[in-house]
Amino acid sequence: MSPSAAGSPARPDAAGFPGRPDAAGFPARPDAAGDGTRCVRVGLPDPVPGQPFLPGPVFAAPYHLDAVAGPQPGLDGYGRTDNPTWRALESAIGALEGGECVVFSSGMAAISAVLLTVLRPGDTLVLPADGYYRTRAFAAGTLAGFGVSIREVPTAGPYPPFDGVRLVLLETPANPGLDVCDLSALSEAAHRAGALVAVDSTTATPLGQQPLAWGADLVVASGTKALTGHSDLLLGYVAGSSVDEVRRWRGDTGGVPGPFEAWLAHRSLSTLDLRLARQSATAAAVADLLATRPEVSSVRWPGRPDDPAYPVASRQMRRIPGVVTFTLPDAGHATRFLSHARLISAATSFGGPHTTADRRAQWGDPVPEGLIRLSCGLEDTADVLADLTAALDRA
Ligand SMILES: Cc1ncc(COP(=O)(O)O)c(C=O)c1O
Repeated sequence: MSPSAAGSPARPDAAGFPGRPDAAGFPARPDAAGDGTRCVRVGLPDPVPGQPFLPGPVFAAPYHLDAVAGPQPGLDGYGRTDNPTWRALESAIGALEGGECVVFSSGMAAISAVLLTVLRPGDTLVLPADGYYRTRAFAAGTLAGFGVSIREVPTAGPYPPFDGVRLVLLETPANPGLDVCDLSALSEAAHRAGALVAVDSTTATPLGQQPLAWGADLVVASGTKALTGHSDLLLGYVAGSSVDEVRRWRGDTGGVPGPFEAWLAHRSLSTLDLRLARQSATAAAVADLLATRPEVSSVRWPGRPDDPAYPVASRQMRRIPGVVTFTLPDAGHATRFLSHARLISAATSFGGPHTTADRRAQWGDPVPEGLIRLSCGLEDTADVLADLTAALDRA
């Protein structure tokens, strides 16, 4: 049953809210198995004695064809449209999201696939003013050039009426500011106006929230981040109850992941529950520490009860990601902090095993010059806190 169908308030998650034991009342998963169990088992074939748990990647451009019958439904023919390693990963991610899944070579390949299959000249797109900057750039460049009207709205709202809108793209929590929006209310409003809703759920992962269950039509995400979580591959996916058009688009345009990346991603999913638990626990401690520092302003982590996003996050999310955003007085202060850190590495992206920090204004995000997005990794929390304190002291 979907969270919205179940009525609120949602049943508390027995697993709790990692790192925030005070945060009872976060929505439960919609099925019975625990997150760790599901992450380990999803998408695996039935056990066969002598066979591996996760079959190895299938590397194939062409496959053998029947010389007489030629291509046949249900038989793999060519590697741009057919690959069993992707199918296993798609069934795994689809099970976690609660829909069908199509994997892509990157998050942007997945997002652009949705935008370009749904939108036509004359349509209107609503998208986050504070979300991933390349999505905005793609809309302002390519989509506007095709005659699509773009309306940017901050994730925290207020949202204008959706009359005349074809697609509402939400991103929650938004990257890098970590504002959160109400998926159930916005999906209802969009559907009333005849618009579709797609949600970039990259930061949350399917263990953090389930946009389809809250009423969204599509999930789009980068699997490059916490979902696969090792900083060693790029991946994207689209999930929903109806993704045939997106699958056809991928076959036409060829934004497919390599079989090895797909296999690595599937292998990495098995530790998602454990990785998120450590990252979230460290993020909670990092946010608490940052809140005590006089030189730091605007600490954002949606799991802190005093965060503006907390009321919606605590209703809608099952886990809060390991990303914390905060602001130092200026660019110089931020770069001194980055250069004095020893354990916390300067790098973009987030969700990997290494704790990283990124000054987002250097990428053109419309944020203060001193804003840092810090992604907590898998190191011991105490070591991250010690490095954070030392780097702030020296900056
Ligand atoms: C929220 C969000 N969506 C999409 C993307 C794009 O993903 P990828 O880099 O896999 O193309 C990113 C990348 O940082 C992101 O942060």
